[in-house]
Amino acid sequence: MRGYFLSIEGTDGSGKSSVANLLKEEIEKNGFEVILTREPGGSKIGEQIRDILLSKENSELSKKCEALLYASSRAQHVDEVIRPNLLDGKVVISDRYVFSSLAYQGYSRELGIEDVMDINKFAMGDVYPDRILFFDIEPEVSIKRRFNDSVADRIEQEGVLFQNKVYNGYMESIKLYPENVSIIDARLTIDEVFNRCIEIIRGDLDEALSSNNSR
Ligand code: TYD
Repeated sequence: MRGYFLSIEGTDGSGKSSVANLLKEEIEKNGFEVILTREPGGSKIGEQIRDILLSKENSELSKKCEALLYASSRAQHVDEVIRPNLLDGKVVISDRYVFSSLAYQGYSRELGIEDVMDINKFAMGDVYPDRILFFDIEPEVSIKRRFNDSVADRIEQEGVLFQNKVYNGYMESIKLYPENVSIIDARLTIDEVFNRCIEIIRGDLDEALSSNNSR
């Protein structure tokens, strides 16, 4: 595939979304076309699935149904948005992707990281991120940030214990699938976090460009 696929991961309120917007602007300044998208969602059908997943009314949603809905939303997102844009040579940035399912459904909901990876392999097909940036920040700190600026959704209401588990889930998932993962210290200021991300992405894009040129 000709483009570059970046996913940004972290516990709720880790600052991913703000940095994703800055990265989009910066990469565009360097002459690339950038698609910024998110999960769950990212397509019309995906956004409908997101509504089911995040609705406070759906407290009876079973763990397996939840994992499969996240994977379904991902399959639609890949087929409709991510793969076509990568084939077109664009940079695609997704705010959350498969590592969210590994950490939240696989580890925190105790479905098993590897089993959740298996259902997601079917959903993703050949579309795996060229780079996964994990925003590393203690849940106590990130939850405080989050509750300051938005209303809690169903998942966030489960609070800090759940977020701690999610954080451990990310760590375990990274141990199992370290390929293409970079851990970013997200306790730093937004500028510092942004600079660290850009350094990594520049390295990747330079490498991709020079290998294309030498073909
Ligand atoms: P969102 O409001 O987008 O949160 P954030 O701004 O933190 O990304 O809500 C997405 C929620 O869905 C978030 O709590 C993480 C959860 N999630 C999963 O549990 N599994 C997944 O595969 C994905 C993509 C998200």
